[in-house]
Amino acid sequence: MYLKSMDNAFSLKGKNTVVTGGAKGIGLGIATAFAHQGANVAIFARDEKAAGEVIKDFSGKYEGSFSFYKTDISSMESCRDSVSRYINDNKRIDVLVNNAGIGTAGRFVDMDEELSDWFECFDVDLHGAARMSYQVLKHMRKAGSGHIINITSNAGEIINKPFLTAYAASKAAFNHFTRCLAAEVAPDGIRVNAIAPGFTFSNFVKDMPEEAYKALCADIPIGRFAQAFEIGALAVYLAGDISDIVTGAVFTADGGFALQH
Ligand SMILES: NC(=O)c1ccc[n+]([C@@H]2O[C@H](COP(=O)([O-])OP(=O)(O)OC[C@H]3O[C@@H](n4cnc5c(N)ncnc54)[C@H](OP(=O)(O)O)[C@@H]3O)[C@@H](O)[C@H]2O)c1
Repeated sequence: MYLKSMDNAFSLKGKNTVVTGGAKGIGLGIATAFAHQGANVAIFARDEKAAGEVIKDFSGKYEGSFSFYKTDISSMESCRDSVSRYINDNKRIDVLVNNAGIGTAGRFVDMDEELSDWFECFDVDLHGAARMSYQVLKHMRKAGSGHIINITSNAGEIINKPFLTAYAASKAAFNHFTRCLAAEVAPDGIRVNAIAPGFTFSNFVKDMPEEAYKALCADIPIGRFAQAFEIGALAVYLAGDISDIVTGAVFTADGGFALQH
């Protein structure tokens, strides 16, 4: 449904949202922003303890309903099982955020001959989102509506960052998956967009020494890393009716880093 007024334009009240990896890092920032805007939030991840703590915290603060579905996105069976249990419990999914991912670093030429790191990276960061999208789209297409938001990376746009070849290639493919899928499912009333963050406070960077942080910030025009909640704010815009005209877009949110690389 398109926007008719700016009243409550950013409200997600009553929307059923699923966030993969929603108990940590950027996923937690997105889940928090959604909960704050009134959404029902389901965390699809593996770590039950971390998700349980988030659900307890949200339940004391926000009005929506909050749940956890143990899911390993590297398994189609696990994605199918979690999505079908969610649909049995809640009838529909309005918004899927494909956030869960791993940060594979290391030189391509130094990988083992099986390319284990390469395949693991693609299997989680790209194929995990494909599995979740496949399962969720069955239901969104029946409903004739829905939004998918993919969390890619500015690494999918820039080249001159060493030792991220597998990760960057998977994220570049993820950006294009976003565009192609958006065109494919637009006639079904479904939108697909991506957010490409740059350096963002999360487990990826939590043990970084101060000196290394400062050196990286010197290379970012805005001069700092993003907070996960800031990525969540952009996801709120994409999840709501306010962005109903937007599909197939990749929004870079990296303080200008990709502009100069
Ligand atoms: N932080 C950054 O600087 C940055 C920059 C650009 C893009 N990104 C992207 O943002 C996304 C989130 O990253 P983050 O920095 O927030 O990382 P993080 O703090 O390490 O969180 C990663 C999340 O992914 C989930 N996950 C990993 N493998 C999974 C699997 N097989 N099945 C289900 N869930 C899985 C984890 O949940 P469990 O532990 O519960 O499984 C965890 O919640 C990733 O796609 C990453 O590529 C991050």
